Amino acid sequence: MTASLADPARPVAIVGAGTMGRGIAQIAAAAGTPVLLYDVAPEVVSAARAFVAARFASAATKGRMTPADAEAATDRLHAAPSLEALAPAAVVIEAAAERLEVKTALFTDLEGILADDAILATNTSSLSVTAIAAGCRRPERVAGLHFFNPVPLMTVVEVIRGSRTAPAVTDALARLAEAWGHTAVHVLDTPGFLVNHAGRGLYTEGLRVVQEGVADPVTVDRILRDCAGFRMGPFELLDLTGIDVSFPVMEQIYRQFFDEPRFRPTPLAAQQVAAGLYGRKTGQGFYRYHDGTRETPAEPSAPPLRQVPLWVSPAVPRFAAPLRATLAGADVPLDDGDVPGPDSVCLVTPVGTDATAEAVRQGVPAARTVAVDMAFATPARLTMMTTPATTAAARDAAHAALAASGAAVSVIADSPGFVAQRVVATIVNIACDIAQQGIAAPGDIDRAVRLGLGYPRGPLEMGDDLGPATVLAILEAIRALTGDPRYRPSPWLRRRAALGLALTAPAVAD
Ligand SMILES: NC(=O)c1ccc[n+]([C@@H]2O[C@H](COP(=O)([O-])OP(=O)(O)OC[C@H]3O[C@@H](n4cnc5c(N)ncnc54)[C@H](O)[C@@H]3O)[C@@H](O)[C@H]2O)c1
Repeated sequence: MTASLADPARPVAIVGAGTMGRGIAQIAAAAGTPVLLYDVAPEVVSAARAFVAARFASAATKGRMTPADAEAATDRLHAAPSLEALAPAAVVIEAAAERLEVKTALFTDLEGILADDAILATNTSSLSVTAIAAGCRRPERVAGLHFFNPVPLMTVVEVIRGSRTAPAVTDALARLAEAWGHTAVHVLDTPGFLVNHAGRGLYTEGLRVVQEGVADPVTVDRILRDCAGFRMGPFELLDLTGIDVSFPVMEQIYRQFFDEPRFRPTPLAAQQVAAGLYGRKTGQGFYRYHDGTRETPAEPSAPPLRQVPLWVSPAVPRFAAPLRATLAGADVPLDDGDVPGPDSVCLVTPVGTDATAEAVRQGVPAARTVAVDMAFATPARLTMMTTPATTAAARDAAHAALAASGAAVSVIADSPGFVAQRVVATIVNIACDIAQQGIAAPGDIDRAVRLGLGYPRGPLEMGDDLGPATVLAILEAIRALTGDPRYRPSPWLRRRAALGLALTAPAVAD
């Protein structure tokens, strides 16, 4: 921290005392920093101060703060009657309206009021920090400090370096945020910054799977929760946020990256918006809601077990053995032949390919081929898919035998990479490219995504869990089948897979 910032007598100023401003004020005051709170609407400042004071009082009631600390924290919140009253601030955090002209006008005015060494930080979530700074006399003193809502619970903050920001400024802001108990991650000023950029994969690929008719939203969510460990699937999340809010972000990031295919939204998302099916707030989105509670369709039941022999393809040895073990508990005959018998259902375990491609490649009869996703098999759920030629009898025989293991079984239409493989590989690939572009360091990418998006693992860690070579194989296979450059592997992934390095390995070895 610079000497001036370290001076505890110099307060932090917050401009805009709405949802975000009051959250930031709360963590700052709780940590001992004096806060000057300003809003263009003075009544908002009083409301914000009362709101934060009530939070402190409630924390004291619950024993999370002493009453004396709650009172002292409240006393650190000072209403500023004008912008001029922010003059003593070492740092200003702007959390006003999300409009470039509002932020540039504010920063221009503030530069005339504050000391020359003061830092101007913006909490913008979608505007360019570089563009905001461009109108300033001292753009090197301008940076982004992107908090997430609700600030006290979302303990990650992105410290954004614009093209002209001095590194000492972002370092000082990171230290300040850490002193407030948040995890600061350093990010280059780019569209979506880090968290919103890394979060594209789950939504866009989930939507693509549904748009392609592979599975319905409920099935996609179930697979991603039970097989890939996400707390919520993309459609639950879209309904929670409201697709009227999420779709413009999808479009904006896609356009800001000049139509990068990895971020291309699907027409299905636009259609939901046009229909007014925003989600929870309108009572219907991808799910229906009754009195605020989501109605989830019942899980389809498994067909009855049949005495049809099942043959497990040995093509992917690391998947064949666990699949045989899964089936061992079912009361069905297993065909142990080197090639499938004339009546056997052929179970294949593709990596990135679809059931059709796998049946053709392995020379097994498509009418009796069923593919099982063993890369994302868990005791809770298995995913299977069929070729367009697979008979209902073969499909049902496989479904019943897999369900006999005790797992729920999701049956999807033919898809390169099932659901979990393609969605996870997409997420990993986007994170790899964030690392490749130097937008953030590998450790910060994983930390920010775990804290900011609530993923069980960071995206690079997910890639390492699956194995970089497997992620690469999935993406290469999907790209070969679809021809879509959306799936082209990032050089970060390609090189690490080739060298047997972890995706979390830094750009330069120690
Ligand atoms: N809400 C979120 O989830 C979230 C998350 C991260 C970042 N952000 C960003 O934080 C900023 C604030 O968002 P919010 O959700 O708190 O909005 P909000 O509408 O709740 O609060 C904004 C406040 O700024 C005040 N304001 C507007 N123009 C002003 C000006 N010129 N000078 C002083 N005050 C002014 C308004 O009166 C209002 O009280 C935006 O840039 C937004 O994009 C929001």
